[in-house]
Formats: sequence, structure tokens, C-alpha cells
Amino acid sequence: MKLTTFEVISNKKLNPTTYEIVFRTEGFLAKSGQFIDLTVRDCYLKRPFSIADYHDGLLTVLYKTVGKGTKEMTFWTKGDKAEALVELGNGFDLSKAERPLLAGGGIGCAPLYLLAKEFCAKGSKPTVLLAFRNAEEAYYIDKFSKIADVILSTDNGCLGYQGNALDCLNYYKPKYDYYYACGPLPMLKAYAAHSCHGQISLEARMGCGFGACMGCSIMTTNGPKRVCKEGPVFEAGEVIF
Ligand SMILES: Cc1cc2nc3c(=O)[nH]c(=O)nc-3n(C[C@H](O)[C@H](O)[C@H](O)COP(=O)(O)OP(=O)(O)OC[C@H]3O[C@@H](n4cnc5c(N)ncnc54)[C@H](O)[C@@H]3O)c2cc1C
Ligand code: FES
Repeated sequence: MKLTTFEVISNKKLNPTTYEIVFRTEGFLAKSGQFIDLTVRDCYLKRPFSIADYHDGLLTVLYKTVGKGTKEMTFWTKGDKAEALVELGNGFDLSKAERPLLAGGGIGCAPLYLLAKEFCAKGSKPTVLLAFRNAEEAYYIDKFSKIADVILSTDNGCLGYQGNALDCLNYYKPKYDYYYACGPLPMLKAYAAHSCHGQISLEARMGCGFGACMGCSIMTTNGPKRVCKEGPVFEAGEVIF
């Protein structure tokens, strides 16, 4: 973990509630499933965000505007500086899958983009299941389609299959041997109940973001664990919901 300064390269609205911000960074390594903790003006606590993409020193975060901090971030423009804690969290373990399924719900699809790129770099094209509430909230479909086999679902059926991320999985039955899921808690709980052959990336309200305050602890079959330190990625069968 270290504190660093990013420079904003672009900050683009992808749909009414989702933004893509690209930062220039230097001097650290990042992998899919890890997160950064951003300092936002007038917010006492830093705000955690998954890494959606990372190449050549450019780091992309996809964020949904839900409150004070993410609203403030929408005003960041090219050339602005942002302070961030980096190298946080464990990240996904790619070694488990020969034939990966990546399942995302809502803003939880974000870290799966870098994960999909990492699988492609290893020579295995993933299947990516993207679930959104409606077509308006969808994003990155074209980008995922260039590197993965994409399956879509929306709650109202206006894009792809009508139903949630697990209904869609049960309907299409894509071939896979191990899954990686990120999304709202009910989705992760449903995936874990469906099969424990996977990893899930959890969210929690965070204090310090690096393991010191215990504020993000969850219960697992191996005792309490901190989402920011031992997670945010856990074995699906390990989490006690
Ligand atoms: C490891 C990790 C990775 C994340 N990755 C992303 C990402 O890639 N993109 C993204 O948009 N968001 C992500 N989040 C969630 C993001 O951190 C919060 O949405 C953000 O901190 C909200 O800040 P705010 O000031 O706008 O909202 P606040 O004013 O703090 O809260 C607004 C609402 O959002 C809820 N909320 C705030 N933080 C969280 C949280 N951590 N978990 C669940 N609900 C929360 C609050 O309960 C409240 O209802 C991630 C969270 C974690 C822990
Ligand atoms: S946020 Fe402080 S220990 Fe996880």
C-alpha cells in the first residue's frame, strides 16, 4: 500500500449515472480485483474504487454517482490532481480457471474488464455475463464484446435476456469451469449458493482501506476477515452471508 498522486486525463459520462475516469499514474503495479482509495474534497474518508483497466501507466475507474463523493468526482477535469492509496486488496486468482465465466451486475461489471483482458493475455477468451437493471444503465458492452463472448441481461428485458444475473446464467448455461462474480450482495449470495466453484468480489463500507481499523470485517468459514486486506476477492464458499 502506498500514497500517490494521479493526474486526471479524462472524465467521461457513459450513461446517466456512470462515469469513466482515466488517470495517469506511475510507480506501482495493479491487477484485476484490486482497488484504489481516492481522496475526495470535503469527504473525511477516502472512497474505494475497483480498477477497471490499467495499461501503460493509465488507470481507469468506472464509477456510479450515488452520493457526495462520487458527485464531487464528476467535476474533476483533465489536468486535475487526485491523491490515492494504491496496491490495495488481493485481486482475482486467474489460476483457478481453464474456461472462465465472468459475471457482473451493475457497476460490479467494472473490474471484470481488466480481468477479461488478463485472461485474454493468458490465451483464454472468457465468457462475460453482464447484468444491468435496464438498457440505460448499461456500459462497456462494445469494449467487452471485442475481447470476450458476451451474454447480456436486464431486469426489464429491454437488452438481452429478461431477468437477473443468475436467471440469465441458468437460461443460457454457458460452458465454464470456474466463475468470477462482482455485483450487488444479493447477486453474489445467489451465485455462491448456486456453486462454490468461483470467486466473488465484495464491497463494504470502509474506514482506513488498508487493514488497520477492522471496520470492513466480514465473517467467513475461516473466521473474520477484512474486505480491504484479505479481500475484496473471496472464495465463494468461504463467505458467510
Ligand atoms: C473494494 C470496493 C470497490 C468498489 N469499486 C467501485 C467501483 O469500481 N465503482 C463504483 O462506482 N463504486 C465502487 N465501490 C463503491 C464506492 O466506494 C461507493 O459507491 C462510494 O464510496 C460512495 O461514495 P459517495 O460519497 O458518493 O457516497 P456516500 O454519500 O458515502 O453514500 C451514498 C450511498 O452509497 C452507499 N455506499 C457508499 N459506499 C458504499 C460501499 N462501499 N458499499 C456499499 N454501499 C456504499 C451508502 O450506503 C449510501 O446509501 C467500491 C467499493 C469497494 C469497497
Ligand atoms: S477499512 Fe479499515 S480494516 Fe478494512
